Amino acid sequence: MIILGIESSCDETAAALLADDRVLAAQVRTQTIHSDFGGVVPEIASREHIRVIDRVVRETLARSGKGLAEVELVAATRGPGLLGALLVGYHFARGLALRRGLPFVAVNHMEGHIYASYLDGCHPRYPALILIVSGGHTQLVLFEEQHRYRLLGETRDDAAGEAFDKGAKILGLGYPGGPVIAARAEQGDPAAVDFPRGMLRSGNYEFSFSGLKTALLHHVRSLTPEQLDAGLPDIAASYQEAIVDVLVRKTTRALREYPVRQLLLAGGVAANRRLRECIAPAAEWVEELILPEPAYCTDNAVMIARAGLARYQTDGSSGPGLDASPCLPLEMFEREPGTVP
Ligand code: KG4
Ligand code: ZN
Repeated sequence: MIILGIESSCDETAAALLADDRVLAAQVRTQTIHSDFGGVVPEIASREHIRVIDRVVRETLARSGKGLAEVELVAATRGPGLLGALLVGYHFARGLALRRGLPFVAVNHMEGHIYASYLDGCHPRYPALILIVSGGHTQLVLFEEQHRYRLLGETRDDAAGEAFDKGAKILGLGYPGGPVIAARAEQGDPAAVDFPRGMLRSGNYEFSFSGLKTALLHHVRSLTPEQLDAGLPDIAASYQEAIVDVLVRKTTRALREYPVRQLLLAGGVAANRRLRECIAPAAEWVEELILPEPAYCTDNAVMIARAGLARYQTDGSSGPGLDASPCLPLEMFEREPGTVP
């Protein structure tokens, strides 16, 4: 099946064309304008999506060698995300499907991140454990069967990606923070600063990164500008290490408690080289450790097209009554007793 996927939940306008689970063409257009503000400005994001979406879709189709007439299914992100941004891609895709008489599937962005790894013959084997680490979410999820997810725990405050972004802001490194902190950390000593590991001994699968952010702020304030400049690689490496350490230890603990066949990382922070390195030994607990291609960790439309196909195969087209939804939870989420609602 030829699937056109469209993603516009935050500051990336993306389109992709897939033939089942094979990528024919993909394009991600990142809105660089937000770096001037140190974070994504929702209204500007919506306007930028409107400005470029038509071009992004046309160019992706042209690169794929397929015409619009060959597309058999249209999938777009429904939520979660910024409402104004979501509306642009969602209604563009819906309109296109309606005009061409094609089936349309509304995709949950988080399920998209999960399906970013299920390409080129790699498919889910249940049960699987998924560590979702993005700019808005940090969740440990049991993937029990198709479209059935059980939330083991999530963050109580900042998401892992948010911790990188806010940390970078404190360090004056710009936005998005993950890649810049990771780059600075390459030359640093991860043991140089002893940053706190939030909720490490909580006995559950919840996370907290706000204390780490405050610790960084206090540390930075205790330094002169010269000391900060000279110590930046060490501080970045230690800060990154504190985030990665908690993620890896909680994930490994879940693997001990829940025997699973696959362990999967999903979301933008899954691109982090140190996280990928530190999670590698966890492979001994599973048949398969699956790390998404770095290009498909951060927001893209390949993941939306692939998750759209999986949804379409089980549920068919989405009804006309659905609209974009900024706080959409993963469907079928069952919460463990005691986790934050
Ligand atoms: O999944 P994503 O593209 O967007 C959301 O759905 O939120 O994730 C974006 C997040 C940002 O917070 C960004 O700083 C982080 O992923 N990120 C990284 C890296 N690349 C992106 N964090 C750590 N290391 C990276 N290499
Ligand atoms: Zn995302």
